[in-house]
Amino acid sequence: MPQFKDSELTTAVIRSFDETPDPRARFLLQELVTSLHDFVRKTDLTFDEWGYAIDFLTRTGQKCTPTRQEFILLSDVLGVSMLVDAVNHRERDGATETTVLGPFYVGEHKPMPHGADISADLPGDRMFVQSRVTDLEGKPLAGVPVDVWHADDDGFYDSQKPSYATRGPSSRARFVTDADGRFFFRTILPCSYPIPTDGPVGEMILQTRRHPMRPAHVHFLVAAPGYEPLITHVFIEGDKYLDTDVVFGVKDDLISKIEKRSDPVMPDGKPATGPWHLMTYQFRMKPGAGTAPKPMMAATEAA
Ligand code: BEZ
Ligand code: FE
Repeated sequence: MPQFKDSELTTAVIRSFDETPDPRARFLLQELVTSLHDFVRKTDLTFDEWGYAIDFLTRTGQKCTPTRQEFILLSDVLGVSMLVDAVNHRERDGATETTVLGPFYVGEHKPMPHGADISADLPGDRMFVQSRVTDLEGKPLAGVPVDVWHADDDGFYDSQKPSYATRGPSSRARFVTDADGRFFFRTILPCSYPIPTDGPVGEMILQTRRHPMRPAHVHFLVAAPGYEPLITHVFIEGDKYLDTDVVFGVKDDLISKIEKRSDPVMPDGKPATGPWHLMTYQFRMKPGAGTAPKPMMAATEAA
């Protein structure tokens, strides 16, 4: 029976994966063991602390349902989601910056005509969004599907509400760019909102005296054939949580100045019913390949 010193133990566990057929899986597992063992050694982890960690991860798994992914939330608040994003998008070459997908991309993006109001039934300050999708040289990209989604005036996504099953999506749609790469729509000005705090991740955030807030933003997923899928947000300039986003997702390039307008007509020539806001943003796509991510939950599962 071999008896290991702690450093020999690490070597033995690493070697135990030597025959893993897939070289990338072997590399990842051996690096994971190295980092985990280093953590235990560096912290002199106690049995109670290790027990707490196991219980925390167990509760994180138990909180997951087809419509809720507590592990992704954990990855988000620990900055791992943004780090994975960073190492996979090191060279942007002038392309629009990326950020987290988030858990509220649910795959219920109904194609809508340009100018549609995606929040027609919701209270809130009215906003007109005008946008353009181009390549890195500014050439318009036509026929590109763009999924958009954002929280309402109370800080909730449609899919978080029980009414989602019966009323369907709101503040969520798909637009397809015209010959000039443009798309535009009406909605409400989103507000900052807390990530879900009724699970182990939210508990950790509150117990560690962090705040759970995300600055106001609109999500965009732009999927142009021949270009890397662009998963991003446009943040509202001036939001008080821009510097302390709980998931570390803000990048300067993604902050947009929203203009306050009182013109009687909106940019598509249709009448405004009162003061409104204007968001203007151009998405620059990086040539490449890749498929858009799968939604966290299918619409049928959400119902
Ligand atoms: C979101 O923006 O929808 C989001 C992202 C990460 C965690 C929670 C929410
Ligand atoms: Fe969001």
